[in-house]
Amino acid sequence: MAKDRIEYPMPQEDDKEYSFTEAELKEIEKHKSKYPDKRSAVMPTLWIAQEKFGWLSQKAIKLVADTLELPYAEVYGVATFYTMYLKEDKAPNLIDFCTCFTCGEVGGKEVYESIKKEHKCNKDGVSEDGFFWIREAECLGACDSAPVAQVNNKRTVFNINSVEDFNEKILKYLKNGELPPFESVPLKNVD
Ligand code: FES
Repeated sequence: MAKDRIEYPMPQEDDKEYSFTEAELKEIEKHKSKYPDKRSAVMPTLWIAQEKFGWLSQKAIKLVADTLELPYAEVYGVATFYTMYLKEDKAPNLIDFCTCFTCGEVGGKEVYESIKKEHKCNKDGVSEDGFFWIREAECLGACDSAPVAQVNNKRTVFNINSVEDFNEKILKYLKNGELPPFESVPLKNVD
């Protein structure tokens, strides 16, 4: 029998109360005023919600929908389309590790697997101590410095050729409560 509806996986639920502060609402209004249609503010508003709550639970998505007076399904569709919006609360730190094109060619996949092995990550990529989760990413736009990882959606780290590089260039900073230092893409000279 043909299915008359598609079942989408729903995000985890929690029992927190969700609301925006006056300052956040002001910020959202600013985004709304940039566009002729308020629905264009959906991405920055989702981002504000994610920064505030750490991830986008069903209730956080609903809050965004209510704030922008948009249908929940529409906001849910945007939130679930982009991987930078987190629909699960797996661990406090997220590592997106590129195993795509160039990164894959220069050993990114192997480094990714070694990191998971070394930190005894479970099948969801969560480290044994629950400190971070790691997942494979598509091209992060810095192929010249492969393999590349993105940390907490905020900082890009280049040339991660081993578990030791990962521990030194990423984990060391996160354990100190910091992001890895900002670095421009280290372009190589081409003669
Ligand atoms: Fe990894 Fe482009 S393929 S950054």
